[in-house]
Amino acid sequence: MNRNIKELISQMTLEEKAGMCSGLDFWHLKGVERLGIPSVMVSDGPHGLRKQDEKADHLGINDSIKAVCFPPAVLSACSFDRDLMYEFGDAIGREAQANDVSVVLGPAVNIKRSPLCGRNFEYYSEDPYLAGETAAAFINGVQAHHVGTSIKHFAANNQEFNRMSASSDADERTLREIYFPAFETAVKKAKPYTVMCSYNRINGTFASENPWLLTDVLRDEWGFKGYVMSDWGAVNERVPGLMAGLELEMPSSGGVYDQEIIAAVKDGSLNEAVLDQAVERILNIVFEYTDHREEQEFTLEADHALAKKIAAESMVLLKNDSVLPLKETEKVVFIGEFAKKPRFQGGGSSHINSFRVSSALDAVSGNVNITYAKGFPANDDIYDETLAKEALEAAKAADKVVIFAGLPDSFESEGYDRTHMRLPECQNRLIEDILAVQSEVIIVLHNGSPVEMPWLTGVKGLLEAYLGGQAVGEAVTDILFGKTCPCGKLAESMPYKLSDNPSYLSFGDGENVKYQEGIFVGYRYYDAKEMPVAFPFGYGLSYTSFAYGNLQIDKTEIGEKDTVTVSVDVTNTGGVEGKEIVQLYLSDLTGVCRRPLRELKGYEKVSLMPGETKTVHFHLDYRSFAWYNAKLKDWYAASGSYEILIGASSRDMRLSEKVHITAQKQLPLMIHMNTTFGELLADNRTADYVKRFKTQLEETFGASSSDNKKDDGDVAISDAMNTAMITCMPLRNVVSYGMCGKKELLDMIEEMNGQ
Ligand code: BGC
Repeated sequence: MNRNIKELISQMTLEEKAGMCSGLDFWHLKGVERLGIPSVMVSDGPHGLRKQDEKADHLGINDSIKAVCFPPAVLSACSFDRDLMYEFGDAIGREAQANDVSVVLGPAVNIKRSPLCGRNFEYYSEDPYLAGETAAAFINGVQAHHVGTSIKHFAANNQEFNRMSASSDADERTLREIYFPAFETAVKKAKPYTVMCSYNRINGTFASENPWLLTDVLRDEWGFKGYVMSDWGAVNERVPGLMAGLELEMPSSGGVYDQEIIAAVKDGSLNEAVLDQAVERILNIVFEYTDHREEQEFTLEADHALAKKIAAESMVLLKNDSVLPLKETEKVVFIGEFAKKPRFQGGGSSHINSFRVSSALDAVSGNVNITYAKGFPANDDIYDETLAKEALEAAKAADKVVIFAGLPDSFESEGYDRTHMRLPECQNRLIEDILAVQSEVIIVLHNGSPVEMPWLTGVKGLLEAYLGGQAVGEAVTDILFGKTCPCGKLAESMPYKLSDNPSYLSFGDGENVKYQEGIFVGYRYYDAKEMPVAFPFGYGLSYTSFAYGNLQIDKTEIGEKDTVTVSVDVTNTGGVEGKEIVQLYLSDLTGVCRRPLRELKGYEKVSLMPGETKTVHFHLDYRSFAWYNAKLKDWYAASGSYEILIGASSRDMRLSEKVHITAQKQLPLMIHMNTTFGELLADNRTADYVKRFKTQLEETFGASSSDNKKDDGDVAISDAMNTAMITCMPLRNVVSYGMCGKKELLDMIEEMNGQ
């Protein structure tokens, strides 16, 4: 429908316009009946619909409608599958249309800085490329139905402690390279209708009133066209927020902040045009939805089946010493209450009221060879001697044991962070006890974030089910029995212990959280430190095997405008049909700047029959190779060599090839008396100016200078030391050493800067 929204706004009173900029209640925007502006609803998710009607609260205490709980982000990201994420989003979009929900509050793309963050289960990855691609696919799926998404929480909301006030203090390069790209990719590739700003401050300024974040970066640089809403209660000062680019306050301060907006327009401190623009942005999205209402029918059953498919294609097989898949004829005992009562989602605002939950025991109910022993409770840390004894007896009698371990609800949730990375003690103890009487032990983990695994070397099988959504039991047993060939890979590194994590010394600080590890988050850190991890980013096993070959790169000399196509052949060399996630990493060999050893810049998932070969393609551009230079205020890849690596995980590179970049962009150079010779000699804009001093300095201090030389050949200043001294010497020293007058040097500096 063709609407003249500007015309509509011109008919609104100041009060109506201010009112449009805050919610009607917890879940609705206001409407203006006399002008035909409808009141629309937003709802949490995003791994299902959490539509609440009566007595709304946002922390999941009041029930929402019965819906399908799909796998939370922690698991679905492990699919590394854009098509699957689109299909997931498409289902959410259909459900939202059918339930008259105009915007789904998600996806949540914050980076997993530490395994301790209580909301890690809602977030995709430690890697910004994977998080961005996954989010973009999901958003495109939802919005295909004209239902909006609200990508959240923008930005740098990486811990729960003091989340409403703490400041995430990070340098610009870190924000641009690690904490922003998932948002940037999604905004550019999927145009989310809305963005939800986070509660926290960034370098001291609340996200909800940060003009650099909400306007300069989000709109002016990335081209965001929708509206920004606050996280629930994230408004600090309303008028500065509106001016910074926060259009919608949620939920509603009962008119308090609307009055502030009205007063500010009246006293002239807020330009009414800013308000009009905010209203226009909100109404564009409101009508985008209401003008495209679809008659949608969906069945809970069909979406349950999709939830199972997503879970099964995402779970990660971490260890398999010839113990899996299980055979129907084997006597197997399932131990641990999670087999009966799986933990399949996390607590807080994303909590879905599942219409059904399938446990692993439900899923194998027809198989007489499977028995069950509770062993330990799902939601407590109590070692019960009777339960343990019963479990040990059952373990001894069985051919194989599957222990369903995991984190109880109380261990991780929105609202607070974990304080350690351990499983409940009762579980670790029972696992060790069982290992003493039975060697064929498989662990299935239900957790929203990595756990320490003291028993890792003793167990033969390990399946990371994470939080699997309501069809978790079916997905797990399909993998255990080989009906599904496992094909997920880790979207995060699993360190051996908490103190290995790069944010260990600053995570969870209360007021100012120093992101001192900078860009070295997750595998970027573990790889740089050559630190062993329990399981690396991108890792996951299969029941079949894959061979990589025939790496082709269409050009090895690359300019700033070029796109490079990389292709590689993958062959299923095993006996069953399977899917492989092929990963492309880039390594900067120029040495111009300190960078991670390698970074993920492409992935493709490919399905192969035994013996089959397919070629996968990747496309890289200049930005793929670049890092963010805060002085240049831009992305920069220096001229020089780079390595393209094709791997099966971040620590399993199979093929590589070097390419060479020739960049036009040059780093800005502001020369002053203390600029070093090293910088000036390395730059072709200045090298010629200072070469003569270099020669003079070498003659004066070098190994071959007459003062320095001794008869026995021994020297006080070696050539190496001389070179190092000159490299680090500031320009002003040529005056100190009488090689140049001060005026002459200042003129030269002015001339170089003029270049
Ligand atoms: C959460 C958001 C959520 C909102 C509405 C907030 O507390 O941080 O993720 O969408 O509540 O429930």
